[in-house]
Amino acid sequence: MSIHIAAQPGAIADVVLLPGDPLRAQFIAEHFLEKPVQYTAVRNMFGFTGTYRGKRISVQGTGMGIPSISIYVNELFHNYGVKRAIRVGTAGSIQEQVRIKDIVLALAASTDSGANNIRFKGRDFAPACSFKVLHAAYDIAIAKGIAPKVGTVVSSDMFYADNPDDWKLWAAFGCLAVEMEGAELYTLAAKYNREALCILTISDSLVSGESTTSEERQRSFTDMMEVALETALA
Ligand code: HPA
Repeated sequence: MSIHIAAQPGAIADVVLLPGDPLRAQFIAEHFLEKPVQYTAVRNMFGFTGTYRGKRISVQGTGMGIPSISIYVNELFHNYGVKRAIRVGTAGSIQEQVRIKDIVLALAASTDSGANNIRFKGRDFAPACSFKVLHAAYDIAIAKGIAPKVGTVVSSDMFYADNPDDWKLWAAFGCLAVEMEGAELYTLAAKYNREALCILTISDSLVSGESTTSEERQRSFTDMMEVALETALA
């Protein structure tokens, strides 16, 4: 048993969906999985295992930010042998052509976080997704009539940046959106030789200042979940 998940051995499936919000993990389990069983509630960071179309799948809340997702994903990979991890989250657009409600598949994640600076002693690692999982997600989305935007994102440690124009540097280098966890998920997948992908819905735009209404969020969330569930098991 691990410190922060503390599930019984075998309680977690080989494939795991990772929302930041633990209540979203519960919502996913209750609305999308059959026979969900809760395997953890430590710190109210809920995790559930159930089935989707007959296949075993888990959903685990990660919390917000790199230190939090790092704890859960380390334990999922190291203690529970998870083979494929798919983050299902939201992001803020930093490009005009990336609109609210769009779905972004994150090819790679740049970061301002200190985590990889500590790990790689000042050298730069390139946290990237699994091509196999990305390819599957892209095909599944297209088949559903969803045109995902595929490109790089930024995993930032600062939701409330002191300099409100900070994102423009990343935008100038083509990053599509900002979120707070992807770089650590991709780095840990590389460390443990596992598969990872971030599927993100755009909840707000730093370019236009718009944000989604709760109804729009629900619709794009459902689209993202359908793509994520099928990708998890592809
Ligand atoms: N910044 C960081 N993370 C986010 C944002 C944002 O604007 N929107 C959704 N997740």
